[in-house]
Amino acid sequence: MKVLVIGPGGREHAIIRSLLSDPYVREVHAAGGNAGIAQLVETHAVATDDPAAVTELAQQLESDLVVIGPEAPLVAGVADALRKAGIAVFGPSRAAAELEGSKTFAKQVMAAANVPTAMCRVATTGEEVAEALDAFGAPHVVKDDGLAAGKGVVVTSDGDEALAHAQACFDAGGSVVVEEYLEGPEVSLFAICDGRKAVPMAPAQDFKRIYDDDAGPNTGGMGAYTPLPWVPSGFVDEVMERVVQPVIDEMAGRGTPFIGVLYCGLALTSRGVRVIEFNVRFGDPETQAVLARLKTPLGGLMMEAAKGELDTNEQLTWSSQSAVAVVVAAENYPDSPRKGDPVTGLDAAEAVDGVHVIHAGTKLAEGRILSAGGRVLTVVGLGPDLEQARRRVYDGVGQVRMERSQYRTDIAARAARGEITPPQRTGALPVIGAES
Ligand code: AMP
Ligand code: GLY
Repeated sequence: MKVLVIGPGGREHAIIRSLLSDPYVREVHAAGGNAGIAQLVETHAVATDDPAAVTELAQQLESDLVVIGPEAPLVAGVADALRKAGIAVFGPSRAAAELEGSKTFAKQVMAAANVPTAMCRVATTGEEVAEALDAFGAPHVVKDDGLAAGKGVVVTSDGDEALAHAQACFDAGGSVVVEEYLEGPEVSLFAICDGRKAVPMAPAQDFKRIYDDDAGPNTGGMGAYTPLPWVPSGFVDEVMERVVQPVIDEMAGRGTPFIGVLYCGLALTSRGVRVIEFNVRFGDPETQAVLARLKTPLGGLMMEAAKGELDTNEQLTWSSQSAVAVVVAAENYPDSPRKGDPVTGLDAAEAVDGVHVIHAGTKLAEGRILSAGGRVLTVVGLGPDLEQARRRVYDGVGQVRMERSQYRTDIAARAARGEITPPQRTGALPVIGAES
């Protein structure tokens, strides 16, 4: 089959790398792209948020399947236009993408489907925010209602900072969701959905804050690892039963079936699993770690989902190795990253046993690779356990040269040392939806 992948980042580079190892995938093209993607496949310059332009490209290329990586084209309705033109698409419709596009919508769906999540209130004025902050107490969680590339959330014990974030969202014309704080380790679980059924991928953990020990502001994600030796047995089944299937059923019942990846951002709290957020696409950088272990051919899996033909009796197969992914970011990320620096040492990094390099914000200029975004690379290391995968990935990162780059040194460190223990469950498991 011929596949067109939409999107320019690390997630898309990892997807393309996996597609190329699928024996049924004959040809891969990319729309958008970076220096790493351009080394693997032909790239096409197109406005990836423009449904008509993407459809025209897919028709020209005679693509059998289009895979949409980022949320913005999904929310813009690119999948709808492709489906209307009779092209198989891995990615939800505009209506189904609202699960990520609007936090309020996601909360309504969860309430309707009895999915456990944080209590919340929608606020459109400073007074409503102040009341909600008071009701839930500190630490405070204030979220921009719309898309904000992972940076629209402020978690703080400082009431003034929480109010100021809400005000900034109002000033930009938006509304906010104020939430109860969820205490407990976080898990990212990707479910591949075909509109009616779903199969889970291996759970991963993301590191959202910029600095070691979870200090500093939230980013799109600074590293990830999989598998998670500390998750309780039965965890994935529980999430499929209590979260994924109810949401898929609810979306199908509304006439807006969900096709693609439902990314469940979860917290393991003492009261059980709670949804922090949904995304309607693969996570970045979790995908770089998760796909490094996937043995099931990815193209076939995505095609089955796109056609509504997922075989839920068939489990996905995984390498027994552990994968650790470390993001190398530019100076000043996540604010206003420095760009245009030469990036070298990538061959030396890839020469480390078990290591490969995924590009995110890079571009080719006169034969050189230059930084062109906040998150520049993800270095991925595979090893027999997390400790060895960590050693390898950091050996690889150590080979990369880019002026004033930054990365976290503690990705998967606590898990490798066996220091993560999910809280013991207390009492029964009440189902908590949105407060009315
Ligand atoms: P989101 O964009 O909703 O995923 O939020 C980004 C990050 O903020 C999450 O990965 C969490 O680390 C944190 N966060 C969001 N909501 C909550 C919450 N209700 N309780 C605790 N932490 C949260
Ligand atoms: N790593 C978080 C995200 O992709 O949203």
